[in-house]
Amino acid sequence: MPASGQPPLVDPFGRSIRYLRVSVTDRCDFRCVYCMAEEMTFLPKAEVLSLEELERLCGAFIQTGVRKLRLTGGEPLVRRGIMDLIRRLGRHLDTGSLDELTLTTNGSQLAKYAAELYAAGVRRVNVSLDTLDPDRFQAITRWGKLAPVLDGIKAAKEAGLSVKINCVALRGVNDGEVHDLVAWCGREGHDLTFIEVMPLGDMDSGDAGGTNQGGTVRADQYWPLSMLRAELAKRWTLTDLPISTGGPARYARVAETGGRVGFITPMTHNFCESCNRVRLTCTGMLYMCLGQDDAADLRAVMRGAPGDDDTLLAAIKEAIARKPKGHDFIIDRRQKAPAVSRHMSVTGG
Ligand code: 5AD
Ligand code: SF4
Repeated sequence: MPASGQPPLVDPFGRSIRYLRVSVTDRCDFRCVYCMAEEMTFLPKAEVLSLEELERLCGAFIQTGVRKLRLTGGEPLVRRGIMDLIRRLGRHLDTGSLDELTLTTNGSQLAKYAAELYAAGVRRVNVSLDTLDPDRFQAITRWGKLAPVLDGIKAAKEAGLSVKINCVALRGVNDGEVHDLVAWCGREGHDLTFIEVMPLGDMDSGDAGGTNQGGTVRADQYWPLSMLRAELAKRWTLTDLPISTGGPARYARVAETGGRVGFITPMTHNFCESCNRVRLTCTGMLYMCLGQDDAADLRAVMRGAPGDDDTLLAAIKEAIARKPKGHDFIIDRRQKAPAVSRHMSVTGG
């Protein structure tokens, strides 16, 4: 039971909603080619939830049984005042009404914030890092520099945060580096998760929290993780680990390093059945499923009924009741075909 004494949010398929991902900004200091266009038009400020609104919404979700919050973006740490929000949300850890507060970051600001994050109660961060080569890093992120990100990762580790590296697998770009990444993460003690690149469209782009508006992934850059895994198996002994949480990653132990390697294939969906998460965009739209268009406009509810928590809680519950069984990335969910057979163009928007 959540600390509020309320029963947890349970969707129509019996899944308890314990995990909320919140995009706190659509802005980013990088322009990763698969995520953004170089020229981006960002949302007007009035459309983005204020820090107070974000705090209020997160509080409402916690009241309804959410136990884990992940802040995403864009890049969460470029939002002005973000540490104030993180500190306020961290109080829910102190009261025991929240188990985990974490974030997904590109690492550019981590050197600056690592210690403060730890002090606020954050214990883990996911850092996006597709390459250890400075030139390639710049080519992928357009505006990013590798050195500050590596410094940030180091600072995070020194501050006591565990770091998980998220690496988008791109054929012809970083495919020659996957062994180095496994070795480096093994040495540094970071978990490593490979993410299959997603086709672009209007849909929410995973950790980017819906900012994907014009990046490009060429068809020949698509590298199915089944192939990446076969490549890894040439050098490393991988042993599958048991399926753990409601998350989308499948993990394996690397015998030689003792580390873990995960694989996220957005286009497979064996995880929908145990999905325990919902996503909130920085404009307050609640998406019940990454692969479905249905969303609830919680900003309208909040701004329409200032200070009225009952109405907000009711709107959240009503939205969860609409959480679909699974996403529509493929046509037939019963089909047991490997991920490879589903080309990314199937998914679209
Ligand atoms: N395909 C896969 N992952 C993506 N991300 C953004 N765009 C894409 C895409 N097209 C994810 C990456 C990155 C995070 C910020 O967003 O995981 O690390
Ligand atoms: Fe920024 Fe992450 Fe998108 Fe790269 S993938 S542009 S770091 S939000």
